[in-house]
Amino acid sequence: MKDLDYRFFPILLLSLLRMANAFSNGLAIPLYYYQAGYNPTLIGFLSAAMTLTYFFSPMLLENIPDQFGKKKSLIFSVGGTLILQSFFQISLELLLFFILRAAEGVLLGLFWSILISSISLVCSMEGIEEDNFFTRASLLATMSKDGKPNVMSVLWRSIGELWMYPVITVAVSPSRYSYELLTKGIREFTLNVPSDKISSAIDICGTYSGRNTDKFNLANLTIIPGKRVKVPTIKDCVLSYECKIIHETDSGNIEPHHLFFGEILAAYTLKEEI
Ligand SMILES: Cc1cc2nc3c(=O)[nH]c(=O)nc-3n(C[C@H](O)[C@H](O)[C@H](O)COP(=O)(O)O)c2cc1C
Repeated sequence: MKDLDYRFFPILLLSLLRMANAFSNGLAIPLYYYQAGYNPTLIGFLSAAMTLTYFFSPMLLENIPDQFGKKKSLIFSVGGTLILQSFFQISLELLLFFILRAAEGVLLGLFWSILISSISLVCSMEGIEEDNFFTRASLLATMSKDGKPNVMSVLWRSIGELWMYPVITVAVSPSRYSYELLTKGIREFTLNVPSDKISSAIDICGTYSGRNTDKFNLANLTIIPGKRVKVPTIKDCVLSYECKIIHETDSGNIEPHHLFFGEILAAYTLKEEI
């Protein structure tokens, strides 16, 4: 399972800055050494070696962020580059300079693969949301303070962005046991869009109450421990979102439902985390 990085635009901005930096350095540095009287063949050879590092490192490092964690990889890449760049100021010796630049190329490769996966994941999200998020009823999982989970069916839900946060909103009537858990239990929830394999769970979780029924057991649902939240997700769901409640309000006079706004901390598809 892979991690969907919702905070994608700051990464895009950073990477554009880094690309501009790499591009201008790539032009200016060989010129500097040429003017300083170094052998043009050596400069050409080192520039080519450096360019190859920049070219191949994104491909070779593609899987590292997934294994190592995107956040850690990003910090390592940006932090490492800052350290290397401060070395540049100390030494302008040709060979050392190009070795440092090549190392920077490797770090940029790490950064680049994070960016590419973020772009492709955000793109693939769009199709998934249209196909499944709005067309299928979902399973809302919640948890009591003593760690007992519950699940109910929801049709009133939306996904979008609020105050720059990716947010899922669920409307839950105060009569539901889930409402009690959302307000007095763990202030998190997961929203799970079931696949056909477990679609019958919608009827069970939408008619029985967790006050007196273990619906996971009754509907034969398998719990998957949450990765970023305490509340679990559910196996065999086409989409699962882990959310932390950041706001809530009454829905007004239309229906006595309460709206819970959850910041999406992680998202998963059936085959992989996206
Ligand atoms: C398809 C379907 C969609 C539902 N959507 C909602 C909803 O959006 N909000 C809500 O409060 N109840 C909704 N319900 C009703 C609850 O799922 C139902 O009352 C459930 O038993 C509450 O469980 P709980 O007491 O364990 O929380 C829906 C039921 C079904 C069958």
